[in-house]
Amino acid sequence: MNDAVLPRPLRLAAVRDENARTRTFVFDASIDAAPGQFAMLWLPGLDEKPFSLLDTDPVSFAIAAVGPFTRALHRLSVGDSVWLRGPFGTPFALRGDDHLLVGGGYGVAPLLLLARQGLAMGHRVRTVIGARTAGELLLVDATRAAGATVAVTTEDGSAGERGRVTDVVGRWLADDRPATLYACGPHGMLAALRDQAGRAGVPFELSWEAYMRCGIGICGSCEHDGMLLCADGPVLCGG
Ligand SMILES: Cc1cc2nc3c(=O)[nH]c(=O)nc-3n(C[C@H](O)[C@H](O)[C@H](O)COP(=O)(O)OP(=O)(O)OC[C@H]3O[C@@H](n4cnc5c(N)ncnc54)[C@H](O)[C@@H]3O)c2cc1C
Ligand code: FES
Repeated sequence: MNDAVLPRPLRLAAVRDENARTRTFVFDASIDAAPGQFAMLWLPGLDEKPFSLLDTDPVSFAIAAVGPFTRALHRLSVGDSVWLRGPFGTPFALRGDDHLLVGGGYGVAPLLLLARQGLAMGHRVRTVIGARTAGELLLVDATRAAGATVAVTTEDGSAGERGRVTDVVGRWLADDRPATLYACGPHGMLAALRDQAGRAGVPFELSWEAYMRCGIGICGSCEHDGMLLCADGPVLCGG
């Protein structure tokens, strides 16, 4: 049996606050995974939920406290255990050598790993990071520190440019086209980016979220447009 299917215990090695409701969780293990893949985290007796890999060595996740499971994760301390299954799902695959990465909310998490991969290969990496307000921005400094060019948008104008990521993307698609656009974030943002990239003739890879239970293409709970997003996705290509 594939090892990824069986849960294994990981010990929490460090926790960092990223913004008002998001923390990075660093575990004492590594994993053989690619940017865009996810793992199922399990707290026995509570639930099991999917999270994108922020880093593979050590295994790390950036997790927003939005409900019962993520709030329980936020209550963990260094030394506590969490069970992990994975990695699962389709990864982003770098195409060309000039990449435009677009992240909304905690969708920025898998893009940092992708940015690092592209930069290590000597590629050009531009990233647009958006949130409603400055306090909800995620991983801006880390993405800049990795060496990517970063543009920030907030809907209320409290940091960066007032507006949405699609405003910056529209300009960059018109003035300085990338080879490929990659994005992760809310469905509305992804749908708008799919239309923009499609109109500009730029290939795109988008990571779509769904409610997941098994994570391995069995239960059907992540069905979307005839696809099982845990196995056929979460990264879907187009253009
Ligand atoms: C492939 C994948 C990767 C993910 N990566 C991350 C990550 O890196 N970091 C992170 O913080 N979260 C990530 N998530 C989302 C996370 O799994 C969910 O938010 C999870 O349901 C939280 O569990 P909960 O019990 O805390 O909250 P829940 O009670 O499940 O949800 C709380 C609130 O969030 C809303 N919500 C939950 N899931 C979704 C969703 N998929 N799309 C839109 N709204 C939703 C619910 O409607 C509800 O209002 C990912 C999800 C998927 C499918
Ligand atoms: S989560 Fe079960 S089929 Fe996708």
